[in-house]
Amino acid sequence: MTKQVKPSRSFASDNNAGVHPAVMEAIVAANDGHVIAYGDDPYTARAVALFRKHLGRDVEVYFVFGGTGANVLGLKAGTESHNAIICAQTAHINVDECGAPEKFTGCKLLPIASPDGKINVDQIKPLLHEVGFEHHVQPRVISVWQATEMGTVYTPREVKNLAKFAHDHDMLLHVDGARIANAAASLNVKLKDITKDAGVDILSFGGAKNGMMYGEAVVFFKRNLAKNFKYTRKQGTHLPSKMRFISAQFEALLSNDLWRRNAEHANRMAQVLARELALVPQITLTQKVESNGVFAVVPKKYVSLLQKQYFFYVWNEEMSEVRFMTSFDTTEDDIADFVALVKKIVK
Ligand SMILES: Cc1ncc(COP(=O)(O)O)c(C=O)c1O
Repeated sequence: MTKQVKPSRSFASDNNAGVHPAVMEAIVAANDGHVIAYGDDPYTARAVALFRKHLGRDVEVYFVFGGTGANVLGLKAGTESHNAIICAQTAHINVDECGAPEKFTGCKLLPIASPDGKINVDQIKPLLHEVGFEHHVQPRVISVWQATEMGTVYTPREVKNLAKFAHDHDMLLHVDGARIANAAASLNVKLKDITKDAGVDILSFGGAKNGMMYGEAVVFFKRNLAKNFKYTRKQGTHLPSKMRFISAQFEALLSNDLWRRNAEHANRMAQVLARELALVPQITLTQKVESNGVFAVVPKKYVSLLQKQYFFYVWNEEMSEVRFMTSFDTTEDDIADFVALVKKIVK
């Protein structure tokens, strides 16, 4: 009997991908002698300078280990515990961070129902009726994710509208940018166009989903928000001692447009996958494919057969909606093999 060989790349998550070779080379190159720990090193200085080149001269940048930490600590910097954070019901901070944002900020999250992961000003307005009333939490941050995990993307205009509304109401706009590169690549804009120039105040800038081994950055577009952040980061257990190895990765990612090339590739692979799946009559795509996620209703009986060979997540059990993610290393052959199996199974 021949043993079935599972494909080495699947469509479960961009986190499942390995490390881009240029990033790996940068890690190896940084493994040279001693440098001062905790960020006072030349790798970190160069990486911060690159962030300033991409996002604006005045930004304050702090490297952390992971995305949940970046969100939690960035949100903590902008809030007090009597505040509320407004977000989409599906948002990672609401669903996938084990209550860490609530635990560390002490704030209540006010989730807004949003089938495509995006929220807008009209949905937020009703949450502001009790501003100034001490019996109610006080909204202080609007938090959006860009790209959303549903694969959709906020346009620069949409971000500007949210930022203007936030600032008009003494609030801040926070962006969970675990996939900010995919959003900028999808919109064909600069990173600055959907952050600083659109009025974002605090950004979690993703690395791990776009070719890094680990590491994210918290970026502040208003200096005063970062005033005590070095203490917040340390108390929040996200001050990396061997910072140079995160910095070196960011240096690679932000040089030679690697961030854009990786994200563009992942996005393009999602388009190819979506186009192929749309041709299968038993499958229905459920979201616009604007970044590197493809959502589809696949009948349950086929899901279990596909999952024998491919790892991917069921997003909504009731609907039998599944999520396929592509990454910087997805190939057209990976997609062709997967789609061939899909067609064989549904026949
Ligand atoms: C949108 C989004 N934000 C934040 C995170 C958190 O990242 P981490 O798993 O590094 O904590 C993820 C991870 O999947 C994510 O998809």
